Amino acid sequence: MIFLIVFVSFIGLSWLVHYLYVTLVAFKYWKRRRVPHFKNPRYPLGNISFRVLTSMPVTSFLEELYSTMDGPYMGLMLHTRRALLLKDPELINRILVTDFHYFNSRIEVDLSADPFFGSFFILHDERWKYFRQKLSPIFAPNRLRGVMNSIETKYENLEQYFEASSDLSFDFYSLMKRYVVDTMSASLLGIDVDFLNNPHDDIRLMTEEAIPVCTRTVFTFFFALLAPNLKHKLRYNFFTRNVEEFSVQLVDSLLKMKNSTNFIQKLSEIRKESLREDGDNNFPLELLAAQVFIVLLAGYEATGGTIAYCMWHLAKNPDIQIKAQAEVDAVIRKHGKITHESMSELTYIKNCINETLRLNPTLTFLIRLCNKDYHCEKYDLMIEKNTFAVIPLTGIHTDEKYYPKPHEFDPNRFLPEERAKRPSGTYMPFGNGQRFCFGKQMAKLIDIYTVGRLLQNYTIKLNDKSHQEKIEMEPMTPLLSPVGGCHLSLVKRC
Ligand code: HEM
Repeated sequence: MIFLIVFVSFIGLSWLVHYLYVTLVAFKYWKRRRVPHFKNPRYPLGNISFRVLTSMPVTSFLEELYSTMDGPYMGLMLHTRRALLLKDPELINRILVTDFHYFNSRIEVDLSADPFFGSFFILHDERWKYFRQKLSPIFAPNRLRGVMNSIETKYENLEQYFEASSDLSFDFYSLMKRYVVDTMSASLLGIDVDFLNNPHDDIRLMTEEAIPVCTRTVFTFFFALLAPNLKHKLRYNFFTRNVEEFSVQLVDSLLKMKNSTNFIQKLSEIRKESLREDGDNNFPLELLAAQVFIVLLAGYEATGGTIAYCMWHLAKNPDIQIKAQAEVDAVIRKHGKITHESMSELTYIKNCINETLRLNPTLTFLIRLCNKDYHCEKYDLMIEKNTFAVIPLTGIHTDEKYYPKPHEFDPNRFLPEERAKRPSGTYMPFGNGQRFCFGKQMAKLIDIYTVGRLLQNYTIKLNDKSHQEKIEMEPMTPLLSPVGGCHLSLVKRC
């Protein structure tokens, strides 16, 4: 009994000390430094609204914060971690591009406990540089010609899927993501997956099951962001055991394949080189699995999701759709079909994709962690080591100052003369600087080709199940995910 009383008192006292430290010391950080900041951080999450863990999409939360900002930056507290939310494009460019060496990472991770978390989206040490150097040439525009074959083959599968369906109404969010996984598995991994027809294929472990929309996902995400040491101590891993085991087996078998793709060959080279150099392996199989995982995930969520959102915007704006169809028809008349070369003439469709990514950027914010004290001369602002810089993409992309009538879908915003009116740092769906998305060209290729082919053959319509005015987004995921999917109908063009 005495033991229990002592134990409970100890817990109570520890909590009280923690509470006092957080509310009286940590939460006063920005005030002490006289930096404009969001008021009233609440224990324990600080300025993160509890609604973000339960009912509010991250994107709406960021838009809400951004709309209340009245200066170029504002301090906020994410639990006990300090962050600066940035609004000024010049400061954003400095952090992402010019002064990148002060801000070269996103979050800290101890990969010894969670190696699957070590995709080069997360890495920032020498291994990030090495991976990026080795892998990015594969995604350079001139190397993507080979990817076209996989895209064309998988698009034909999609057409067959439509032909076999009695009703041309689908949840395009799920359909397009499965189609893109098939395309990327073929072109990058060299495996012929038919996720389109078999939604319960094993590969779903690396995609749908890996980051499900649920409290666990958002909780793990914030855990990794705000309390990485605790995450490490509790051995609370980002992915489930099933996902981890499947990805290691997959990568192991891919590395043993005889005629592997450039991507797998590079991973194999990395593994061999690291073994040769020091006998110790800096790149265990789990870390290579993490790289395979990130490209599949990027394809699945971002590239597939963008096609679905673009189709929704076109269905909602029939005038724009007619114009886009006219452009495809002209290209088909001139070249006979859409090819890698003729795609450059689909400029209006490209701008429809750009506009979709303005309104629905898959990553709703960019993040950098300051690794040594940084002085910003323009504002005489000292950003201390270990402060996060957060760039709220959804807020910036819908700022009236740069985009009049920001919630209207208007591809002409991306005409060269319109682009020239906006400062750089106001459109970044693929990020910016040394850590920008290197899958950008591949994603654009898949998105423009697919939207072009769909418009060549079909007219896209909203139906009873569609989001009508606006695509409502799910809470409990750091990525964009539409509530109930993205239902649309196709009508065959004569
Ligand atoms: C429409 C599709 C896509 C969108 C909207 C997108 C968006 C982004 C964004 C916003 C970032 C962070 C950039 C930053 O912090 O500055 C990023 C990073 C990254 N993306 Fe993508 N992405 C897409 C497709 C892809 C594809 C297809 C791949 C791979 C084949 C890919 C691989 C990556 C990787 C590896 C990084 C981390 C780069 C680094 O930190 O060095 N992405 N992406």
